[in-house]
Amino acid sequence: MVTIRPATHADIPDILEFWRRAAENTDRQDDASKVTALIDHDPDALLVAELDGVLAGTVIAGWDGWRAHLYRLAVAPEFRRRGVGSALIAAAEKRFENFGAFRADAMVLRDNDLAHHAWKAAGYHAQPHWGRWVKTLG
Ligand SMILES: CC(C)(COP(=O)(O)OP(=O)(O)OC[C@H]1O[C@@H](n2cnc3c(N)ncnc32)[C@H](O)[C@@H]1OP(=O)(O)O)[C@@H](O)C(=O)NCCC(=O)NCCS
Repeated sequence: MVTIRPATHADIPDILEFWRRAAENTDRQDDASKVTALIDHDPDALLVAELDGVLAGTVIAGWDGWRAHLYRLAVAPEFRRRGVGSALIAAAEKRFENFGAFRADAMVLRDNDLAHHAWKAAGYHAQPHWGRWVKTLG
């Protein structure tokens, strides 16, 4: 049985370890202070899924007051294909409904086939006419 709840400060070490083994490989630089800042800023944004009390997945359902963004969708390899990812996306979308968000988006690597399957199954599609423009700050 999957249960989904907002992460607390006590979850942070486990989540950081979980992301190292389960999340999409990117150029991120995670540490406890950044996750603490997220939870302090929006205590309901970082959602964790548990299967029988074991951390099985995460998603960040970020609402910035304007748009709804999804980050860090990840499910432990041993718990994949059991509906945990879908349940996390559904929980994030439910949260976005409360804000009147009309659309949600996710950053997805072009060659991440696992992610493409899961996002498509949840009703998401790529927008080939958009690209990501970035600048490293600091
Ligand atoms: C992407 C990810 C979160 C999916 O999690 P999951 O719990 O396995 O997803 P679900 O079990 O809810 O699967 C939902 C649907 O997605 C599709 N799907 C998921 N994995 C699939 C696969 N390997 N092959 C084909 N379809 C797949 C299926 O339609 C599935 O429904 P079904 O099992 O009833 O057929 C997981 O694979 C993962 O953590 N990958 C590594 C991290 C990552 O890439 N995250 C995405 C960042 S954008």
